[in-house]
Amino acid sequence: MQKDNRVLSPEQVALQQDYIEKNRVFYLDRLKRQPLGCVVTFGCQQNEADTELIKGMMVDMGFALTETPEKADVLVFNTCAIREHAEMRALGNVGETSHYKKANPNMLVCICGCMVQQQHVADKVKASYPYVDIVFDTHALWRFPEFLHERLSGSRRIFDLSGDERGLILENIKPVRKERPSAWLSIAYGCNNFCSYCVVPYVRGRERSRRPEDIVGEAERLLAQGYRDITLLGQNVNSYGSDLEGCCAFPELLRRINALPGDFRVRFMTSHPKDATHELFDTMAACEKVCRSIHLPVQSGSDRVLKRMNRRYDSEKYISLVDYARKLMPEITITSDIIVGFPGETEEDFEQTVALLEKVRFDSLFTFIYSRRKGTPAYDMPEQVPRDVKQVRFDRLMELQNRISWEKNEKYVGTMQRVLIDGISEDKNYELSARTEGFKLVHLRGDRSMIGEYADVLIERNSTWALFGRMV
Ligand code: 5AD
Ligand code: SF4
Repeated sequence: MQKDNRVLSPEQVALQQDYIEKNRVFYLDRLKRQPLGCVVTFGCQQNEADTELIKGMMVDMGFALTETPEKADVLVFNTCAIREHAEMRALGNVGETSHYKKANPNMLVCICGCMVQQQHVADKVKASYPYVDIVFDTHALWRFPEFLHERLSGSRRIFDLSGDERGLILENIKPVRKERPSAWLSIAYGCNNFCSYCVVPYVRGRERSRRPEDIVGEAERLLAQGYRDITLLGQNVNSYGSDLEGCCAFPELLRRINALPGDFRVRFMTSHPKDATHELFDTMAACEKVCRSIHLPVQSGSDRVLKRMNRRYDSEKYISLVDYARKLMPEITITSDIIVGFPGETEEDFEQTVALLEKVRFDSLFTFIYSRRKGTPAYDMPEQVPRDVKQVRFDRLMELQNRISWEKNEKYVGTMQRVLIDGISEDKNYELSARTEGFKLVHLRGDRSMIGEYADVLIERNSTWALFGRMV
């Protein structure tokens, strides 16, 4: 078999396994009890999936997991860099640990993820957060047991930011997932698109696709374990496989997963409109287990802004994609992301975004205020939009989208929906939360033993954010 340079070699796996064993013995000897591990996660689903791998390594090292950071013997912050706000929150949390360490001097504090991959942030942590023990980037995730061992053996604070943008893919670690029935399944890491506002390609490196047989194998295992709702993850799932020779493209991967036996749902995120093809929508329409639901970030309704964002599509192409999808699948739910206040965005540009929203009528929308990210082309663009202007635009889009979301949800009232019950409701008047095929949140009454089951539900009322129903 040809050697795959993107996947950990057997030697690398064996070495980390050795560190895992050493750390397990170390903690048992030192503490005479099971050590506690905690991972605090910021940011996107990709980070959540990485956290599941870190937790998997912790469990292999003999840790029990806790959600209470101050109780942990090893505390990891898995951070995000996408907007300044995410960084401020992470650094605020890291700052708290100086108090935890007073109560538990043996605690080890680690930071990983996108935020520390930026040299200026790593420098800041080094200088101003002396109680942080280990800092490593997303590419070095697999070396976590090794870093822990080094620090436990008395090494100085560790800052390992190899910046090896190829990043190795971990196929050997068993992630600790959230409760059934929903699971993340990473299919690709990194991004090649270099949207001019976005830091992701710089911190996560070039796109690396997992081998289709590894992905399908993992999906099979998830189904055998009782998972029923699998979300395939990648920064741009539509370019999946372009780095693998002779590999299947994304629609083919969907078809292979759809062919697995069992009553389950598969979804995916995120789709870049420039790579979303008719074949993708044809496949969604033809595959009964692929949910008729897509997150298709448009970012702006102004072609001038889209060009400056380096998105490589225009609003006409975007709208024609949506039209095609809805013609094939009238019930499809479409959600999106918008950035307001991109440098140089004029009132006229903004009005074009408003017009696009009115035209497309998304089921829901994530609106973000543009955040200047060091090292990206947009950082240096003149005409940065003043904060108060951004806020006014943000508020206006929220108001508009709230109305649209409410109207869209109202259309479900009186219909029957097949939902998958996925957890406990956060609404005190209901016991269960569930999702429709289109990922609409539904609150229901019923017994917790039904979590993980499908149910047929009559939708009785709606709000902007959710539907409320009754099992029939
Ligand atoms: N500022 C604001 N929003 C951003 N996003 C990415 N980079 C930035 C930034 N610098 C948004 C985009 C993307 C989503 C995940 O985050 O809308 O689709
Ligand atoms: Fe960032 Fe664009 Fe890549 Fe998405 S596609 S991660 S917005 S560079």
